[in-house]
Amino acid sequence: MAIQKIGVIGCGLMGSGIAQVSAQAGFTTVVREVSPNALEKGLGSIYKFLQAGIDKGKVPQFELDKVKKNLSGTTELKDLADCDLVVEAATENLGLKKELFTALDSICKPETIFASNTSSLSITEMSGFTKRPERVIGLHFFNPVPLMKLVEIVKTVRTDGAVVADANAWCMAIGKTAVNCGDSTGFVVNRLLVPYMLDAVRVFEQGLASRDDIDNAMKLGCGYPMGPLFLTDYVGLDTTYYISEIMFDEFKEPRFAAPPLLKRMVLAGLHGRKSGRGFYDWTANPPK
Ligand code: 3HC
Repeated sequence: MAIQKIGVIGCGLMGSGIAQVSAQAGFTTVVREVSPNALEKGLGSIYKFLQAGIDKGKVPQFELDKVKKNLSGTTELKDLADCDLVVEAATENLGLKKELFTALDSICKPETIFASNTSSLSITEMSGFTKRPERVIGLHFFNPVPLMKLVEIVKTVRTDGAVVADANAWCMAIGKTAVNCGDSTGFVVNRLLVPYMLDAVRVFEQGLASRDDIDNAMKLGCGYPMGPLFLTDYVGLDTTYYISEIMFDEFKEPRFAAPPLLKRMVLAGLHGRKSGRGFYDWTANPPK
């Protein structure tokens, strides 16, 4: 397979998951964070997740040993120079992504494929930050990355067919199922999921049903693993709001517009699981 060595930019929620599944599948993987502290925290979350799997009897000990062997951390972009694939999972900020891709373009070998895990920004726009737009692709993972089976592979009008084939092969090698789609804001999943989550907030805001009744309705009536308000907390209210703004800006359709309650909760710092409080209180275990 053309892809052997992987670089991951960012070791937060998504980057750490991507680095983990890559190393777990046997790929030499280097993950880059901005500071030694952030790196230590990110790598720590990977080892903690695997240890929890071992404790539950779901993961054999050798998986943790394999990840420790295959995965290294760095704060230097130059350590990704000889990677065959670099997956960017930094903060959702186009200016930051421009800086990163411009730097990587001059550091990495010409064959390196650049992928972004963005959920809502344009892959086509990012490809324009490089001199290799035909080697730029979207690889959109889902949270929690080690447990969610899907990757959306996003092809722009410039992406080379061989790059799409290599990306599909790598996703299969890391145990994911890929769906291929074009570069349209939200791709497939968020195009469908975000209006659903926003509608759940609207139903709650309008007092049609209580939080628990809304979540139970979709869990028990449709067989979803999480109710929509719990899922919004899980994804992050700030992230959901951010994506909805980008989607509304793109499509100008009311279904993508954030309900006032979501905006107010974000402004109030109620970001869901990550902040300890959203529709649920996440300081309790399980959340109340
Ligand atoms: N290591 C290995 N396996 C583990 C594990 C670990 N540390 N922790 C849990 N597991 C396994 C469990 O053993 C279980 O396996 P089984 O099905 O074989 O018994 C399975 O993973 C599920 O774990 P749990 O039983 O602990 O928990 P749940 O059954 O509640 O599942 C969940 C958790 C998979 C997160 C499930 O609730 C779910 O699918 N939720 C929906 C998440 C979702 O929709 N994500 C997408 C968000 S949108 C997104 O990311 C896009 C972005 O752009 C916004």
